[in-house]
Amino acid sequence: MNQKTDYIAVFDSGVGGISVLRHLCRLMPGERFLYFGDSANAPYGSRPEEEIRNLTLAAVRRLVSRGIKALVVACNTATSAAIEDLRREYPDLIVVGIEPALKPAVDHHPGGTIGVMATEATLRQRKFMTLMTRLSENCHVVMLPVPGLVKLVETGLAESEETKTLLEPVLTPWKGKLDALVLGCTHYPFASETIAELVGEGTELLDGGEGTARETLARLSQRNLLERGEGQVVLENSLGSREIMELSASLLQQ
Ligand code: DGL
Repeated sequence: MNQKTDYIAVFDSGVGGISVLRHLCRLMPGERFLYFGDSANAPYGSRPEEEIRNLTLAAVRRLVSRGIKALVVACNTATSAAIEDLRREYPDLIVVGIEPALKPAVDHHPGGTIGVMATEATLRQRKFMTLMTRLSENCHVVMLPVPGLVKLVETGLAESEETKTLLEPVLTPWKGKLDALVLGCTHYPFASETIAELVGEGTELLDGGEGTARETLARLSQRNLLERGEGQVVLENSLGSREIMELSASLLQQ
């Protein structure tokens, strides 16, 4: 039986999910959060679907053994590969998975041109294809994979010349042409200043972090599992190095 005082587990392939954790902490300051980033195996986005699924299931099993009342999959790539398996394996657990914020983008800009930056794995998977097919009648979707950006964020170079050099050829051709740009990977909000500069002021940047936090709040509230205690955040990472722990802490504080 889940207890109010159990952790809310937050999982990502690395430090990216901290962009979601920040929304969760803001919305539910009295909760105990247990964040696990699998940086030793990041990036997930260039791996085959089965590998992503196996890595996700293994990480979640360890989290569940710690006593959790909810699981937030703060990784678009892991959500598309494994959310159905997770729901099957833990039918009584609250499981919330982040997805690219394409629906809000279309709602804000009907008939508009919408870019979606996400990992290669997210963009090729059935979950995203289904979403895109459903919504593409009302907009023009441009897929913008950016291999390499996750690694830069993982090494503390989210807002840097290296990021600008990587993104310039992908985003500059779209400068001033996109109504909205969906940041469909939880690592990308950490590079949002560089991204905004490259696509131009008129483009709205959207990510699913806040929506995911709101849904988690609603699901906990429905089951009367919200806690109004002291609040706590435990950060853990499969790399375990001092550098990755310092980076995690600094991204949380940003
Ligand atoms: N942060 C993850 C996402 O939201 C993916 C990063 C990776 O490729 O490992 O998709």
